[in-house]
Amino acid sequence: MRIDIVTGLPKLLESPFEESILKRGQEKGKIGIVVHDLRDYAHDKHKTIDDTPYGGGSGMVLKPEPIFECVEHLSRERVYDEIIFLSPEGEKFNQRLANDLSLKSNLLLICGHYKGVDERVRESLVTMEISIGDYVLTGGELAAAVLVDAIVRLVPGVLNDSESALSDSFQDGLLGWPEYTRPPEFRGKKVPDVLLSGDHSEIQAWREQQRLERTKTRRGDMLDADPS
Ligand code: ADE
Repeated sequence: MRIDIVTGLPKLLESPFEESILKRGQEKGKIGIVVHDLRDYAHDKHKTIDDTPYGGGSGMVLKPEPIFECVEHLSRERVYDEIIFLSPEGEKFNQRLANDLSLKSNLLLICGHYKGVDERVRESLVTMEISIGDYVLTGGELAAAVLVDAIVRLVPGVLNDSESALSDSFQDGLLGWPEYTRPPEFRGKKVPDVLLSGDHSEIQAWREQQRLERTKTRRGDMLDADPS
């Protein structure tokens, strides 16, 4: 899978992909993540990528020309399955969407900034708008990093067996069970006896019951939700 990200602030996306699992996925050749600086597509010597809004108002709007030219340049090299604009007005991101997007070959993410982006970008280039939650960030970069992280770890071969995404909470609509490691007693708090019993069917039954309990108390909405 390849993910291209178009941004006016490429520095914001330098470190998230250079650590841990995302770095390893790239080294193993399972994924490619390429960040493109919108200013490389600006027309003037000041590398202007935004302008004031027609009709007045505060803030700046990302200009259409650099974004169109960047996306057209990249689209000549490969066909994108989706061109995604990160925006608080988009479809809410969740595990189902992460699963769907992890099956694609080429994704292009466009990060908005400042006040917004010229509407013609949304009308003519973008195939999907995604929000990571009902709050407003200063730009789409951190949202793009969240998307990439959630998607890439689902790509076959990125995680090893012990990290397998198949056992994630959310994948089967329930939260996880409580985990413990050594020591068996810490500051007066003991690890539940069942986990030390060595009885695997008892342990499994306890874990399933804990998952249900946890989901009920913390996220009752997940039990009511339509599984589709
Ligand atoms: N850009 C600004 N806020 C955002 C959000 N909540 N989700 C995605 N992109 C954004």
